[in-house]
Amino acid sequence: MSLLELDDLHYGYPGQPRLALQGVNLSLPAGVKVALLGRNGSGKSTLILHCNGILQPNRGVVRFAGRTVTYQRAALLELRRQVGVIFQNPDDQLFSASVAQDISFGPLNLGLNQTDTRRRVQAVAELCEITDLLERPTHALSGGEKARVALAGVLAMEPALLIADEVTANLDPWMRRQLFTIFQRLVAQGKTIVLATHDVEFARYWADMVVVMEAGRVIAADTPERIFANQSLMVQTGLGQPWYLPFAHA
Ligand SMILES: Nc1ncnc2c1ncn2[C@@H]1O[C@H](COP(=O)(O)OP(=O)(O)OP(=O)(O)O)[C@@H](O)[C@H]1O
Ligand SMILES: [Mg+2]
Repeated sequence: MSLLELDDLHYGYPGQPRLALQGVNLSLPAGVKVALLGRNGSGKSTLILHCNGILQPNRGVVRFAGRTVTYQRAALLELRRQVGVIFQNPDDQLFSASVAQDISFGPLNLGLNQTDTRRRVQAVAELCEITDLLERPTHALSGGEKARVALAGVLAMEPALLIADEVTANLDPWMRRQLFTIFQRLVAQGKTIVLATHDVEFARYWADMVVVMEAGRVIAADTPERIFANQSLMVQTGLGQPWYLPFAHA
């Protein structure tokens, strides 16, 4: 059975003439590592915001664990307990005064007591290497520090499906590697991970499944081997060309 199913999703931002999603179909099994690729503006972030009900489609449905997502408050809270999203811009995510408060917010909201919450915060802070930042105000952090705090906040919820929107973009090579390790550990626990990225090499190396978007649609979803062997797809999307090639031949 699919963990997440998107069925014919259409979505237009208010006041925009062109639909951001123009009939997205996608089915993700549980326990896989998914890389979501696509050019700027192809609809990756918009798709992601539909996965935990932040955006509601104009047409089509989202199904999680076999159930059609509905948009009442209680149902959304339950969905967000299962589907954790790390936003493309961490400033959209972090709103508490301190890092510790920010990471505590999710677990407290789930009904955990202070002691258990503190334990979870401590554990995810160690994992994301932000223990020394816990008492800092969230607004006074570097981009990569914010990304790590946002990641910790979502990990503290222990979601079944973790979706990260270009989180690697802000991370240094050391932290990227750390993230990779964290993801491996989560997948070993049976979790499912979706990572939107422009890092084609990372996708090729890391993912079990590559999903390619173009102009508001999913145009391909397959193993990295098959996706990257598809010459016409590579040409159409520009994914197969290392960016430095024209210069190397100059
Ligand atoms: N808040 C918004 N209001 C209006 N239009 C938006 C908004 N956010 C995105 N769009 C538009 O919706 C389309 C899809 O954008 P989206 O952010 O989903 O793309 P993306 O694939 O995540 O791009 P990127 O790689 O640059 O992050 C684009 O045409 C974009 O201009
Ligand atoms: Mg985006």
